[in-house]
Amino acid sequence: MTRPAPAPARPLRIAVLGLGTVGRSVVGALIDPAWQVGVRARGLVPPELVAVGVRDPERPRGIVLPERVRRSADLLEIVADPTIDAIVEVIGGTDDAGIVVRRAMASGKSVVTANKALLAERGPALEQAARDADVALRFEAAVAGGIPVLGPLVSDLAANRIDAVRGIVNGTTNHILSAMAQDGRDYADVLREAQERGYAEADPSGDVEGHDAANKLAVLVRLAFGAWPTVSRIRVTPPAVAGDGAPGITGVRTEDLAGAHALGMMIRLVARAEPGADGAVRAAVTPVAVRESSPLGATGGVTNLVEVVAEPVGRVSFRGPGAGGPATASAVLGDLLALGRGAGSTWGALPPAGWAGAVTDDLDGERSWLLVPPDPDPAAAALGPLLLARADGAVVTRPCGLADLRARCAGLPPDLALYPVIPEV
Ligand code: HSE
Repeated sequence: MTRPAPAPARPLRIAVLGLGTVGRSVVGALIDPAWQVGVRARGLVPPELVAVGVRDPERPRGIVLPERVRRSADLLEIVADPTIDAIVEVIGGTDDAGIVVRRAMASGKSVVTANKALLAERGPALEQAARDADVALRFEAAVAGGIPVLGPLVSDLAANRIDAVRGIVNGTTNHILSAMAQDGRDYADVLREAQERGYAEADPSGDVEGHDAANKLAVLVRLAFGAWPTVSRIRVTPPAVAGDGAPGITGVRTEDLAGAHALGMMIRLVARAEPGADGAVRAAVTPVAVRESSPLGATGGVTNLVEVVAEPVGRVSFRGPGAGGPATASAVLGDLLALGRGAGSTWGALPPAGWAGAVTDDLDGERSWLLVPPDPDPAAAALGPLLLARADGAVVTRPCGLADLRARCAGLPPDLALYPVIPEV
């Protein structure tokens, strides 16, 4: 006797809030019959898009919605609709997004978001609200775009102690540094191109000053080390001869990239975190020097790379497209399908996070530095026995702490950036 076939699961009824670069890609897939067929072929049930929320419904978005999909400017009406099971928040920003996410969860809806700024700024409260309402909050798309890294960090690597996470988590800045280094292109010209391709945030200062990467690092820290860090405590500036240099990549000059290249090195904006003393986390997002042939050095363009160093597995790398509509939509849609399978929040079985874990300055432990002075001779003379390598005006030091290096560099321009040299592991 054959068993009757199980009744097909009811599709998850969802609303997408926001029709920007990511929202359009998500909606485009959800209403595409070919995508739905592919999902069914993998034994899953495609979600049913019932509403789209946009602040200005009349503005053309280059996407034609089926009649059955409601389009509304009233985002709060959508999140209160009891016939909707889950919300996709891709409007960005933290004010409106924070309100709709909190209201949606309070009304019993699960939420999928790509909003790293919202998570970094309000992660503890949002996590608490999701746990209180017993709904899922999923955010794979918030870190490294299309690369599945949060899920594996929490689930597949659960047998490990995480010793460090680090990587290139901002596609815009990596694209800019790569183009400046390879083609000697102008910073503003490459930034404009990144905006046109939909990589950069609406306000690109969040990308180029390192805040977007710091937001993503905060999410990684919560999942790897157990507490939401205070994101404003994460350093985003390289040290300079005196004080700090310009934030993110805004102070990286083509001369710095050329000097690094002369030594077989590349400058990358790298987010790094590892456990520090007394339960604190050492974390920073700074431009650093890496060997061109290393995984970080060889990761160019908009590609992201996240390395997890863990015991007993060793180093695991996640590499792929870190920005752009289709790649980020892949992660959002994956989270929706996970909800349809009954999966919970991205933090999985991790215990509730403490509030605002302490963050200490990552640079205290740095021992090797790259600097590209305007005139190499004074640098070489000042560094004396600290000089390890020099080519075309760029200098790499022997192991030394920051205070020692600064004392030796006292005669150099005070705003000269000092780039930590990150060894391969
Ligand atoms: N502006 C971000 C980036 C988008 O360039 O990586 C993806 O989070």
